[in-house]
Amino acid sequence: MSDEVNGPFGDLFPYSRRFGKTAQLPEKGKPREEILAELQQMSFEENNCWKTGQCSGTMYGGDEGHFKFLNEVFSLFSHMNAIQRDMCPSATRFESEIGAMTLDLMHADAVNDGKTPCTAITSGGTESIISALLVYRGIGRERGVTAPEVILPVTAHPAFEKGAWLFGIKVVHAPINPETTLVDVDFVRKNVNDNTVALVGSAGNYAYGTIDPIDQLSEIAVEHGIGLHIDGCLGGFILPFGEELGYDIPTFDFRLPGVTSISADTHKFGFSLKGSSVICYRDKSMRRHQYFTSESWPGGKYHSPGIQGSRSVGILAATWSAMMSMGREGYLRQAKAIFETSFAMQDIVLSHPELRILGNPTFCFSFTSDKFDIYHINDCMKKQGWRFNGQQYPNAIHMCVTRPQTQPGVVDHFAKDLAEAVAYANGHADEMPASAAVYGGLPGGDLPGMREFVKEALCSLMDATMDLPQSEKVMA
Ligand SMILES: Cc1ncc(COP(=O)(O)O)c(C=O)c1O
Repeated sequence: MSDEVNGPFGDLFPYSRRFGKTAQLPEKGKPREEILAELQQMSFEENNCWKTGQCSGTMYGGDEGHFKFLNEVFSLFSHMNAIQRDMCPSATRFESEIGAMTLDLMHADAVNDGKTPCTAITSGGTESIISALLVYRGIGRERGVTAPEVILPVTAHPAFEKGAWLFGIKVVHAPINPETTLVDVDFVRKNVNDNTVALVGSAGNYAYGTIDPIDQLSEIAVEHGIGLHIDGCLGGFILPFGEELGYDIPTFDFRLPGVTSISADTHKFGFSLKGSSVICYRDKSMRRHQYFTSESWPGGKYHSPGIQGSRSVGILAATWSAMMSMGREGYLRQAKAIFETSFAMQDIVLSHPELRILGNPTFCFSFTSDKFDIYHINDCMKKQGWRFNGQQYPNAIHMCVTRPQTQPGVVDHFAKDLAEAVAYANGHADEMPASAAVYGGLPGGDLPGMREFVKEALCSLMDATMDLPQSEKVMA
């Protein structure tokens, strides 16, 4: 086994010993059955790591029958290109109906200011967010803004920074209240200036699952005549059902007059396949800023509605089918189970005086400890098969509850393993937890040069997962 296989980042190519590595096109195509057998084995092993319900987030649906149905739907249209509407008017049906169903959930019917809400379907939360930033930069340009700025809570997803980086937008980071984890609205109000093109609020944010005071951000946006994007990538397809079920969910959608765009991910709690999200705009004129046309290209007149060019109709069909097959009743039923499971898990956390939940979360909650480094809990529960997501500033771990946690027995399992982990953490409070270095901040804060070091390490890790190591270039 070479160092590259088991290099500084561990074994990044665990299948290579069984299936080899391929660095050139095979001279002759492999038999389909052989390929399928390899892939079935890999898929089987990878599916096993979340089926127990011990993995936070990421596997929102987790119902094999539902996946099978969506994959069957996908296969009917996977090879069709959504840009060729003469060949596949199905794409128009899927795209417009996914949009209409999403607008309905976002209470677009409440828009009575002469605006016409609309949507575009994207490949995921990141594309929805960066599309919105492109739109706000365009709207800013129309009013003469050449150095656009957006004000983001520090908890806003990094996709906003990515979009700002791509489009030359300055990010002004608004702090949060450490108790509530919600954005400091006074900071936002004070920092709006002539270059501000949009404000951002999350419903809910990834780290803590909490919902920013969108009503107050809406007032600021209306007062200054600027945009307000709501990141509902995570919460967009579950919070509306939470509200319907009677949970205390603050209004975050088009019912608020200042909300001008909302991202909501169909590939998260919309229970579609990976690769789909919806960006909703308060008015059709906004969407024009993400359209691209090239009228004089020798290849013909080109136009596409967003950042992507060719797109598979398969994912549109799967997303439409996920929504149609779930229906309001199905989403409500799943949301009820998810909220109940999350609150049961939160009660278990709060039964330990050493642990503290951050803010006032619902389906996704984050907890920390003032007595020991919370990563001791992570270290211990990781050994029992749990996979949490880690936060820093302060160190915390979160559980985003999805369907796999709602299976019978998972909450009891969590209670038992957490009790053992608390005992372990109490006994090791003066030691440095193993997983803190990976997820959290170090005690006493970052050392000088630490951020650059971490950035370089993350880029090297990315390189290592993108390329075959040179010495491993062998034919399968
Ligand atoms: C709140 C929030 N916004 C945006 C995103 C980005 O979504 P994606 O990973 O689909 O690009 C995520 C992903 O977890 C999220 O939780």
